[in-house]
Amino acid sequence: MEENTMDLKKMTFDLHQKLESVARLKKLASGDLSLQEYKEILIRFHGFLEPMEAQIDDLMYKNKRLQDLQKDLIKLDINCAEIPQCKDLPKLYTDENRYAFIYVMEGSRNGGMFLSKILQEKLPSAPLHYFYGMGPQTMAYFQELKSSILTKDLDQKKLVESVQECYLKMIKWFEY
Ligand code: HEM
Repeated sequence: MEENTMDLKKMTFDLHQKLESVARLKKLASGDLSLQEYKEILIRFHGFLEPMEAQIDDLMYKNKRLQDLQKDLIKLDINCAEIPQCKDLPKLYTDENRYAFIYVMEGSRNGGMFLSKILQEKLPSAPLHYFYGMGPQTMAYFQELKSSILTKDLDQKKLVESVQECYLKMIKWFEY
């Protein structure tokens, strides 16, 4: 099937901006935070990502980001089993729901690359497996993944709505 030309990034840009502007994430992006604050942000990502990934069957994506996140948390002496989980999660009923979540989590690697550069400099004691991820391969990997999602037989409107729901639920979760 031919890839459609829908620009998922453009269509959900406003909510990405809103997520980036949540006070804690803004602070993260400035690099002006303590290791304790960094820990708390990683704990929050885990509380969202773990219960979502538990519902994803696609082995190609499953666990990749979670494993990196857990490496960092273990390094910071956190017991991942004790981390509180988000209860108000995006729906994962349909293919549109599932691919939207994969798009959001794998796409956030791009922001992660940006963050890891800043943090390396400003918070050198911070473990960066989660944000650094695949390093220089990130962009190519994500472009290919995004293209493959856009060639699938998905309802575009529902896909966009599902991406929006992921962003909105994350905003809520990070604005605690
Ligand atoms: C800490 C704040 C964040 C910053 C500074 C940030 C920054 C960025 C940057 C620089 C890009 C690349 C933009 C480009 O291609 O021109 C990006 C892409 C992306 N980010 Fe973020 N981000 C942040 C948080 C997040 C979070 C928490 C998520 C969701 C879990 C997320 C999801 C995405 C997605 C899905 C893309 C790919 C968009 C696309 O190319 O289709 N971002 N982000």
